[in-house]
This record gives sequence, structure tokens and C-alpha cells, in this order.
Amino acid sequence: MKICIIAGARPNFMKIAPIIREIKKHNSLEYILVHTGQHYDYEMSDAFFKDLEIPEPDYFLNAGSGSHGKQTADIMVSFEEVCIKENPDLVLVVGDVNSTMAAAIVAKKLLIKVAHVEAGLRSFDISMPEEINRMVTDSISDYFFITEKAAGENLLKEGKSQKDIYFSGHVMIDNLLYQKAKLQKPENSFFEEFKIQNKKYFFMTLHRPSNVDSEETLEEIFEALNQIAKEVPFVFPVHPRTKNKLEEFKINVSENIFQVSPLGFKDSLYLWKDSSAVFTDSGGLQEETTGLGVPCFTLRDNTERPVTIDEGTNTLIGNKKEDIIKAYNNFKKGIVKSGHLPKFWDGKASERIIDVFLSSK
Ligand code: UD1
Repeated sequence: MKICIIAGARPNFMKIAPIIREIKKHNSLEYILVHTGQHYDYEMSDAFFKDLEIPEPDYFLNAGSGSHGKQTADIMVSFEEVCIKENPDLVLVVGDVNSTMAAAIVAKKLLIKVAHVEAGLRSFDISMPEEINRMVTDSISDYFFITEKAAGENLLKEGKSQKDIYFSGHVMIDNLLYQKAKLQKPENSFFEEFKIQNKKYFFMTLHRPSNVDSEETLEEIFEALNQIAKEVPFVFPVHPRTKNKLEEFKINVSENIFQVSPLGFKDSLYLWKDSSAVFTDSGGLQEETTGLGVPCFTLRDNTERPVTIDEGTNTLIGNKKEDIIKAYNNFKKGIVKSGHLPKFWDGKASERIIDVFLSSK
């Protein structure tokens, strides 16, 4: 069986790494890796390939940035050529970025089977580009690998057949556990010094258009964070989109919020795993914090990953100043979730996924 694996943006890379490791254990499986080029900066892409031990891609499509329409179309045009040349038995897509949806559409129209890893998640917020990507991808996939029960329920409600839904667990947790076991001190001594100097600190990431693209919203978020930072410092790897917006809107960021360039996986893990809490709007960090039992405050009104709320360490706090400060005050009073690991977040999700392919050959 020849499997074509697609990755394009930062959150994809953690998910493909353990899948590729697992495929390599089986001589009967062949894979090709396609990087769409949706993310292309060293810090957003190459650093992850290096940290996560992902082999060089067989194809780099160089799609780059642009409007959603342009980016999606560029990926589709180039990926179609790859599919026609390679004729894989299966195209495997992960997550919910534009590359995921673009590749799924191309494959399906060429009558190639599509497997979606992290299927069925729904925020029910159609203003999120990722929600559209999730819905479109799931509407045409053949295999649905789910990370939590709610995802399966969503798929069944949308008319999918139970026999195509596989509760595999979470490949992102496979990667997290694998990397945590071998984690060493980072090469950059700033991170170590930061940890020594600040016994208590928060880790923060922020990049969602709904938080950073509006001046009013971004200003309100930083009014709250600047106030909190007077008591507890933050380390803040700044996504390129956010960096541009902070500059464009001339947002005041406290000196106690240490802004650093986007971090590779290992440096990031090294910092957030020992933080007192994580403030984020990322999808993946909501889950990874649950994976290691670190409290997570999510600056969104909804999440497509409800198990992190019901069983994990995640709390939705939205993006209003008073709500962010209220969450911090609760944290100070010791009101934090300890949570437990959801079903099958045990480091064996990739094995379960590959077993499905091996038995369906
Ligand atoms: C994308 C995903 C989002 C994911 C996020 C993680 C979609 C719709 N969104 O959002 O789900 O959470 O990745 O980062 O697929 N840029 C660079 N260098 C890069 C990549 C991007 O400077 O390597 C800048 C460009 O100005 C670009 C902007 O960041 O226009 C946004 O990049 P894009 O891939 O369109 O969306 P993200 O916000 O990264």
C-alpha cells in the first residue's frame, strides 16, 4: 500500500512525525511525504522537521501565504500533479489547516481514498476557517480517525457510518510523550535562565485571526495580560501573523511579557511543561497541556476539543479583559483543573491507525 502523507502548516508536523515512524516499521507499507509549503519560515517549518525527526519531504509544493482562496488553490494545482504522477492508494491528511482540505479535495476527485486523522472535531463556529476545513474534509473522507468521543458523535450526526470511524486516540500525544522522554536542556541558554529566574511564569501563544486581526480585541487582550504580568511574567513566542498585527496596531506589550521568535517543538515544550499555566488560542496546546496536566486558559469562546474541558486541564476564558483577569484571580485562589488523560491518549494512536491500514489491504 502506498500512502501519501500531507503536511503544510506547523500544527501538522507534530501529527505526521509519529505516523511516519510507525509506517517505517512495516515493509508492506510505502509512503511519500508532501509538504505544501503553507508554512515556510525556518521557525515555522524546518525547525519542526529537525526537532521531530521528520524525513525530508519527497515533494515541496511551495504554496506559501496568500488569501484563503489563493493558498488553497495553489496547493490544489500542485498537489494534483503529484497525485497523478505518484498514484497513491491513499492520501492521509491531518488536522484542519488549508492544506488538509485542499489535499483531500484533490485526492477524492482523482478517486483516491482519503484518511482524515483528527476527524470529527467541531467548534460549531463557522466563522473559523478551520471549521470549514474540518467539515469539508470530513464530508469526503473514507477513514475517520478520532481523538475523542464527541468527534465520533458529530460524524454520526452528519450521516457517517460507524464502520468508517476509528477511535485511534491522539497522534499529537504520541509525539508529545516521545519527545518528552528524550527532552534535554535547550541550546539557547536564555530559556534555562528564564526558568531559573522565574520560578513561577506563564507561557502564552496567540495567533487566531479572531483574536489578533482586530485592533480593539488585541488591545483589550493585552490590557488584561499586561496587568497580570505585573505579578507573574509571561514567555511569549510570537507567531508572524501576531507580530505583524502588534506592530501595525502599535499595541503596548509589557516588558514582563518576554517576546521571543516562534519556537521549535523542543524549546517550546521545555518552557510550557514547567509553566504555572498556559494562556493560548491554539488548538494543539489545549490538548498537549491536558496531556501533561498543565492548567490551560484558552482565549476563545468555544472549542472543538471538548474532552480537554470535561476531562482535561482546559478552561475557556474568551478574550474580554474582565474574563481574562477573572481567570487569573481564580488561578491565584488555587482554582485550577488537575484533569486526567482522556481515553487512548497513551502514545499508541499511530499504531492503531496503521493497524487499520494493514488489515484493510
Ligand atoms: C494556520 C492555520 C491554523 C493554525 C496555524 C498555526 C489555516 C486556515 N490556518 O494559520 O489553523 O492554527 O496555521 O500556525 O490553515 N507567515 C509567515 N511565515 C510562515 C507562515 C506564515 O510569515 O512560515 C505569515 C504570513 O504573513 C501569513 C500569515 O503568517 O500570511 C498567516 O499564515 P497562514 O498559514 O495563512 O495562517 P496561520 O495564521 O499561520
